[in-house]
Amino acid sequence: MENKIVLITGAASGIGRALADIFARNKYELVLVDNDQVFLQRAGAEIKGKYNIAPLLIVQDLTLPPAAENIFQQLKSKKIRVDILVNDAGIGALGKFSDIDLDVQIRTIRLNVEALTVLTKLFLKQLENRSGRILEVSSLAAFQPGPLMAVYFATKSYVLSLSEALAEELESTGVTVTALCPGPVATPFWTKTGNQKPCLTRGRRLWELSVDDVAQTAYQGLMQGRRVVVPGKIGKAIVFLNRFLPHRLVTKIVKKLNQ
Ligand SMILES: NC(=O)c1ccc[n+]([C@@H]2O[C@H](COP(=O)([O-])OP(=O)(O)OC[C@H]3O[C@@H](n4cnc5c(N)ncnc54)[C@H](OP(=O)(O)O)[C@@H]3O)[C@@H](O)[C@H]2O)c1
Repeated sequence: MENKIVLITGAASGIGRALADIFARNKYELVLVDNDQVFLQRAGAEIKGKYNIAPLLIVQDLTLPPAAENIFQQLKSKKIRVDILVNDAGIGALGKFSDIDLDVQIRTIRLNVEALTVLTKLFLKQLENRSGRILEVSSLAAFQPGPLMAVYFATKSYVLSLSEALAEELESTGVTVTALCPGPVATPFWTKTGNQKPCLTRGRRLWELSVDDVAQTAYQGLMQGRRVVVPGKIGKAIVFLNRFLPHRLVTKIVKKLNQ
C-alpha cells in the first residue's frame, strides 16, 4: 500500500460505507472492517470497480474480544500502518431499559464503547508516528440522556467525552481526534433498533440527514482537525439549546421523541 491508509469499522453500510467512498475518491488505501461478510464484499467490489482500489477486507464481529487485537496484529504482520482510524461501527436498541435483552445491551456497550476504545488505544502509537487522525462516530444522542434508548445514548456520551479528552491530551502530538455527532441519518441503522412504529419513523424523517451529506461533513471536519462535528442546522440548534434548557425537560422531550 503506497498511499495513506484509512481503517474504517462498520464500513459495509451507512455512514461507514459512504466514508469509504469519500476516502477512496481522495486516493486513500482502505482497510474495511465489518461483521457482515456479504455486504463488506459487495462494498469492496463496488469500490474496486469505481476507483480501481482493492480494499483490504476484514470480516470481524467487534463485540467478540479479542477482535480489536486480532485486527491490529493482522495489519502489523502485513506491515500495514494506518494513518487514519475511523471508529464507525455502532448499534442501538429502542425500548425500555427493563425490556431490552441484557445480551443486546452488553453487545451495544462492547461495540460502541469497548471495541472503539481498544482500537483507539492500539493504533494510537502508530498514529502518533504518522501525525494521524481519528474519527470517533458519536451522535447527537451524546448531549443528553435518552429514555427508551438509554444504553445507546449513554455509550454515545462516552464516545464524545473520550474523544474530547483525547483531543486535548494529544494536542501537541500532531494526532487529531474528531467526534462526529449526527442527528438521525437515513441508513439501515434504524430498522435494526427493534422499533418500527410508523409515527416514530415519520417524525424522524422530518429532520433526517442524507448519509452522503453526513459523511462529507465528517470528512471535512476530520481533515480540518475539528474536535466535534455536528452536521446540519437542526443538529447545531439542538446542541445550542441544550445549554440553556433544564436538563430534566430535555430528558422528557427525548423520551417523547423516542416513544
Ligand atoms: N443512522 C443514524 O441515524 C445515526 C445517527 C447518529 C449516529 N449514528 C452512528 O453512526 C454509526 C454508523 O451507523 P449507521 O447509521 O451507518 O448504521 P448501519 O448502516 O447499521 O452501519 C453500521 C455497520 O456496522 C456494522 N456492525 C454492527 N455490529 C458490528 C459488529 N459487532 N462488528 C463489526 N461491525 C458491526 C453493521 O453490520 P450489520 O449490518 O451486520 O449490523 C453495519 O454494516 C454508528 O456508530 C451509529 O451509532 C447513526
